[in-house]
Amino acid sequence: MFWSKGWSEFLIKLLHLQKQNPFILLKRSNRGFGVTEKTLAQKIRNTFSDSSVQAIHEPKFDSSELEGVKECIETGWVSTAGKFVNSFEEKLAYYVKADNCVAVVNGTSALHLALLAANVAAGDEVLLPSLTFVATANAAVYCGAVPHFVEVSEQTLCVDVKKLRNYLRESFYLKEEGLVNKLSGARVTALIVVHVLGFAPYMPELVALAKEFRLKLIEDASESLGTFVDQKHTGTFGDFGTFSFNGNKIITCGGGGAVVTNDSGAAATIKHLSTTAKMPHSWEFYHDQVGYNYRMPNLNAALGCSQLDRLTHKLEQKKRLHKLYVEMFSDDEELHVFEAPSFCESNYWLNGVRLRGLDKSRVLENCAELKIGARPFWIPLHTLPAFKNAPRMDMSATEALYNSTVLLPSSPQLLKRES
Ligand SMILES: Cc1ncc(COP(=O)(O)O)c(C=O)c1O
Repeated sequence: MFWSKGWSEFLIKLLHLQKQNPFILLKRSNRGFGVTEKTLAQKIRNTFSDSSVQAIHEPKFDSSELEGVKECIETGWVSTAGKFVNSFEEKLAYYVKADNCVAVVNGTSALHLALLAANVAAGDEVLLPSLTFVATANAAVYCGAVPHFVEVSEQTLCVDVKKLRNYLRESFYLKEEGLVNKLSGARVTALIVVHVLGFAPYMPELVALAKEFRLKLIEDASESLGTFVDQKHTGTFGDFGTFSFNGNKIITCGGGGAVVTNDSGAAATIKHLSTTAKMPHSWEFYHDQVGYNYRMPNLNAALGCSQLDRLTHKLEQKKRLHKLYVEMFSDDEELHVFEAPSFCESNYWLNGVRLRGLDKSRVLENCAELKIGARPFWIPLHTLPAFKNAPRMDMSATEALYNSTVLLPSSPQLLKRES
């Protein structure tokens, strides 16, 4: 018979070889055989000519940034006072529609001050996801509090509201002073929601949950400038929203951060704490408590002001880049590009792909060989030495996301060739 055992063995071998080396078959369709760790990297390499493909997210400046920075240098206003700091605060508050904004040195200090303003005290527990940058948990520790890790949703990448509500009902109880962990007996003061990669959970549900369990709600919006839920900016649903303007964010101050809040009293406290708790006086240095040297310098704010002016353009580019990635992998069943849920208008800060049957390390190796700045998710914080004994929910979704996700180069200027 024509279809002999020898033939089928030969075909199986050929398919296997083809997976190892995509050029073994001369004509290879997008459909059918599917993408491999190697062809995935090649597709990215072939699509983008810009050198920023070597980084996960690069900043971009032009002459307008130079003008503000030059003015700081020429006038000598380079440090923690000057017109650009106030102007940056006003512009940011206006854009996100918050009553108050305090500019600080980075997103980590913004989180630290937001937690202090939320009255998080030593010995308290703070609920926060494990799938986040380490700063979110560190900020809780700076207050003497214990991070209590909560699970995320595989769709939104952010806190899983349903699972969290069940967990709070089972493992905590409400007392006069607030929520208490049944097991540790600790007071639970705050919940930090992180808008991972510029995505968001359905925030009205989280606001309701925080109210039900008497938790202060802090939004770590470090990655979500330009992301809205039901047309309301992320960071403005909770009691406090924090932003980062690190060099890898959608806009940058070089380094920088901000806290936004509609509570004017809390904003005044945050500003006071960020300026070493110095009481206003023309010459005396009187500090009424231990404060922090966290005020954003004018030089950084000058950069931030020009960057904010170009945010709308950057957001358009980010959305086009996201569309390009979705189209690039639309025929590949082995990949799923994360897409924002319908209620969320995402800034698509970073594009990520969920791998189905492909090996994450091999994808990253192949990308590194072709000088593509792809990255894994952060190692889940509950597995790091500093937090391995911290209380937590079941972390199956967090771990599954970490094991099967690759983040792709997402600088807006990648689109240079196409724009
Ligand atoms: C989710 C998240 N939280 C906090 C931070 C801390 O911000 P920064 O690096 O400005 O301190 C970052 C970014 O770096 C972040 O991505």
